[in-house]
Amino acid sequence: MKEIFSGVFRDGNRVYTANLNPGKSVYGEKLLDIVNPEKKHDMNSGFTDSSQGNNTRKNEVLSVQQESKILARIHNVSLENYKQADAKQTDAEGVMQLREWDPRRSKLGAAITNGLKELPVKPGSVVLYLGASTGTTISHVSDIVGKDGFVYGIEFAERVLRNLLDLANRRKNIASMLGDARKTEQYRWVEECDVVFCDIADPQETEIAIRNCEFLKKGGYLMIAIKSQSIDVTKKPKDVYEQEKNKLEKAGFRIIQMIDLEPHEEKHAMIVAKK
Ligand SMILES: C[S@@+](CC[C@H](N)C(=O)[O-])C[C@H]1O[C@@H](n2cnc3c(N)ncnc32)[C@H](O)[C@@H]1O
Repeated sequence: MKEIFSGVFRDGNRVYTANLNPGKSVYGEKLLDIVNPEKKHDMNSGFTDSSQGNNTRKNEVLSVQQESKILARIHNVSLENYKQADAKQTDAEGVMQLREWDPRRSKLGAAITNGLKELPVKPGSVVLYLGASTGTTISHVSDIVGKDGFVYGIEFAERVLRNLLDLANRRKNIASMLGDARKTEQYRWVEECDVVFCDIADPQETEIAIRNCEFLKKGGYLMIAIKSQSIDVTKKPKDVYEQEKNKLEKAGFRIIQMIDLEPHEEKHAMIVAKK
């Protein structure tokens, strides 16, 4: 297990964030408790914090079936790896809980899994997130920005907003809003942001994202998840990505990286740009 960005961990192909709301998964993702190997830890103590089901002890790993999720308390992390994790949210016993980030459910998760070089979302960041949906990706963004950061989630479909509102009730660093990303005047009161993240599958997505950069501080970052089929079905995905990248450059943005999200998200790419 290695910390690849502040608050983001990687073990082989699996990516995790430190759970801001221990014991709770958001979309059925796996939860892992990392235990400080320096602390003499009774493997059964504190266990009810994150689980209530039947548990079985197996060598160094204790796992519990709770509803449809597997919770595993791992005791065999190396001390060096634990130290990287130790600065994050740990409980009184020195346990830090990680949430697995499913790259097939989240374009940001797919970008990180595929080797994103720079992650502009950091602990303490303020993020404007357009197309928040039920909150899958926003929940991981909320983990990363932590207690000192904040995420404004804009979503125009009432049907999915209910889940987002529940998430925002459980996590104090998320504000969820029913709003249309094409109409920034609806949420003019949003504070200046470090990152604007856009995932709205609209033919005008790049133009909408650029307009929302009125909330972005100078030197801030814009991240756009491009679905080529929503922009132009007649063009090859690579040509669509190039076309959208050019629009950003023309608007004065510097492209940091463009990353293909296949095989996790078909015909999708993510562009990271700096204002
Ligand atoms: C692909 S989903 C986003 C998934 C989400 N980003 C995640 O990873 O958890 C796109 C969402 O954008 C919303 N959307 C599309 N156009 C929008 C707009 N103009 N304003 C606000 N939300 C919009 C849709 O209702 C949908 O929920």
